[in-house]
Amino acid sequence: MPRITVVAGARPNFMKIAPILHALAARRSRLEPEIVHTGQHYDPSLSDVFFEQLAIPAPDVHLDVGSATHGMQTARVLEAFEDHLLRSDPRPVGIVVVGDVNSTMAAALAAVKLGIPVAHVEAGLRSFDRGMPEEINRVVTDAVADLLLVSEPAGEENLRREGIAPERIRYVGNVMIDTVARQLSTARALPILEKMGLDRGKYVLVTLHRPSNVDFKDRLEALVGFLHRVAYNLQVVFPVHPRTVKRLREFGLYDRLANGAGMHVVSPLGYHETLGLMEQTAFVITDSGGIQEETTYLGVPCLTFRPNTERPVTVSEGTNTVVGDDLARAEELVGEILAGRYKKGKAVRGWDGCAAERVVDVLEDVWMEPGGQKGAVQP
Ligand code: UD1
Repeated sequence: MPRITVVAGARPNFMKIAPILHALAARRSRLEPEIVHTGQHYDPSLSDVFFEQLAIPAPDVHLDVGSATHGMQTARVLEAFEDHLLRSDPRPVGIVVVGDVNSTMAAALAAVKLGIPVAHVEAGLRSFDRGMPEEINRVVTDAVADLLLVSEPAGEENLRREGIAPERIRYVGNVMIDTVARQLSTARALPILEKMGLDRGKYVLVTLHRPSNVDFKDRLEALVGFLHRVAYNLQVVFPVHPRTVKRLREFGLYDRLANGAGMHVVSPLGYHETLGLMEQTAFVITDSGGIQEETTYLGVPCLTFRPNTERPVTVSEGTNTVVGDDLARAEELVGEILAGRYKKGKAVRGWDGCAAERVVDVLEDVWMEPGGQKGAVQP
């Protein structure tokens, strides 16, 4: 059977590979997946818990690259993944990479250099901000990938503008939403609110981990102050990413944040716990990419603390607002949300729980029948 290699490395990758692997298994595809975990994320709370909760088979190969500077981490994945591919006999007919983390770009580069075709799931997203490491990863991955599988309309427009041949671009929709749709009932059944002493709609869920928010003391201090002000009206639930914990401690802000009235500062949560909290929250404060999409699907207001978004459909159609570093504007928006005046949002094309089916349709079309490119798949 022709083998394909599915690569994942960091937390936001796992919910994207899960539905693709499930779709391959459910239809007994002739494409046989091999799972490679790069080890970019290694803490159980950022990795193992997702494999367990999303029923992802254990990785066939672990590259164990760990944390390092960007150059070093990328280089380690390149070297280790190339070595794995060179030792594969027979070689995979293609590799699948998802999202925009360092592992995504490095794995794509290693494969194309060996002449192995690459499919990039979530292709074409652009923040047009090269200060974001993920933007570099997106641009490089799309430049070398053979198949560009797009999740939202802007992805298609960006790739066409960059001169990518239309037959390489397929609008498949959003695989991460497949995972939300599939896992929502399990998430709802968890007694997470009771456990944390929260009431539906009476708290705000916060996730902040981007270097631009957490790596600078002034910015992080301003955010801590803002969260304390939000906590006058609502409980604040903040599962803190390891990068953020490290910075909070370094800047002497951790205790101030955690000891504030109404603050629930906790370790990173599992997928079901996060989804359960996200569905019942008054709104979300985030700098994550994926959470902007999940909240749009769930119809939950989302305030994105970044200067831009590579996921513009969440703003134009969905429930997201990009507030940048304007905390006064953020406070106004919190007022609108609490007063019930915030926008409601609409469904997005292809965010329907069936995106992974369309991904596998494309992979089978192209990789099981070499040279056999059928027409673009439209949801
Ligand atoms: C990475 C992704 C980012 C994604 C985020 C989700 C890149 C460039 N960034 O950022 O796009 O939104 O994952 O979580 O790929 N650490 C641990 N345990 C771990 C992994 C990391 O403690 O299992 C700590 C280490 O101190 C490490 C730091 O977190 O240096 C940053 O990890 P890294 O993988 O470089 O980037 P993230 O900030 O997690």
